[in-house]
Amino acid sequence: MTQPTHRGTLNPPAGAKHARIWGVGGYRPERVVTNEEVCTWIDSSDEWIRERSGIVSRRWAAPEESVVDMAEQAARKALASAGINPSQVGAIILATVTHPYQTPAAAPILADRLGATPAAAFDISAACAGYCHGISLANDMVRGGSAEYVLVVGVEKLSDFTDRHDRGTAFIFGDGAGAAVVGPSDFPGIGPTVWGSDGAQWETISQRDPWTSVRDHDVDWPAIGMAGQSVFRWAVWSMAPVAQAALDKAGVSADDLDAFIPHQANMRIIDAMIKQLKLPAHIPVARDIAETGNTSAASIPLATERMLEQGEAPHGGLALQIGFGAGLVYAAQVVVLP
Ligand SMILES: CC(C)(COP(=O)(O)OP(=O)(O)OC[C@H]1O[C@@H](n2cnc3c(N)ncnc32)[C@H](O)[C@@H]1OP(=O)(O)O)[C@@H](O)C(=O)NCCC(=O)NCCS
Repeated sequence: MTQPTHRGTLNPPAGAKHARIWGVGGYRPERVVTNEEVCTWIDSSDEWIRERSGIVSRRWAAPEESVVDMAEQAARKALASAGINPSQVGAIILATVTHPYQTPAAAPILADRLGATPAAAFDISAACAGYCHGISLANDMVRGGSAEYVLVVGVEKLSDFTDRHDRGTAFIFGDGAGAAVVGPSDFPGIGPTVWGSDGAQWETISQRDPWTSVRDHDVDWPAIGMAGQSVFRWAVWSMAPVAQAALDKAGVSADDLDAFIPHQANMRIIDAMIKQLKLPAHIPVARDIAETGNTSAASIPLATERMLEQGEAPHGGLALQIGFGAGLVYAAQVVVLP
């Protein structure tokens, strides 16, 4: 193609050669909701919930505690662990499906709270894959020159959008926030992302009714509904190949990993993926779901923080992370742990 006949040529975007995660941080709300408490709302048992999901308890935010409040706590921890000032943050990507305002996004409010203005700030809606989408975007932004440091936050207050009396979802979801700071690096710290979508299956996990129906048809509060078995099958059969493709694209094998950090959807899904990936038994696997439940966009950074804090995964080690959920959408990449 010939050059456009403008008066001059444009400066190309100029970023860092490589990017990596500099620090992570998490926030878990104070209130622990046990399986026993969940069983006061649904006909179930602690034994059934543990056996079918691996969940023992989850955290719920206080009624007045917002998505932005939780995001702020996690972001401050991530910034401190990265040694980065809020003023150095050029962009904030906030992944959530439970910020209760259609507009504006939560990210600009978070930027203001942190003192990170005038950072670019926007929300993304990629459900349980939101964090891995955010890491991919941040990697591209740092290398593309649109920001030096990018704050990626996954945060959910799913308790606001869960029907307590729905046997299929009441025991699964929890609240929380996790964050990561992505910035320039001397080495490749974020491998190629393998991601995609299958919108034909959009109804398998979905807000039950659109807001317009709430206005026009006086329907119940539109909590999140889920066809559990369909999601289960999709996750078990379709996500292991995505995780394998992320390994292949990064040029590493399962043996090279120091940690496997899948979305904390269900312990049985995690176990099935381990089997399909033929993950060697000595590689630590995130099992944060037991005490955190499924926190959607927050689950991977929360699990990462726990593994690093408890010494289960080494700083500087290689971790395979994969998020998948409503859409249906997914994203996976191998990262160097901060
Ligand atoms: C939700 C989930 C745990 C349900 O487990 P399941 O084995 O598929 O359960 P089913 O819906 O097939 O129901 C099996 C039986 O348990 C019963 N059951 C369903 N929910 C129950 C509950 N909360 N407590 C006790 N029994 C329950 C059903 O009535 C059924 O009984 P029956 O065999 O007598 O008919 C499972 O489908 C799942 O984890 N799906 C994926 C969810 C997920 O990860 N979502 C997030 C993705 S991001």
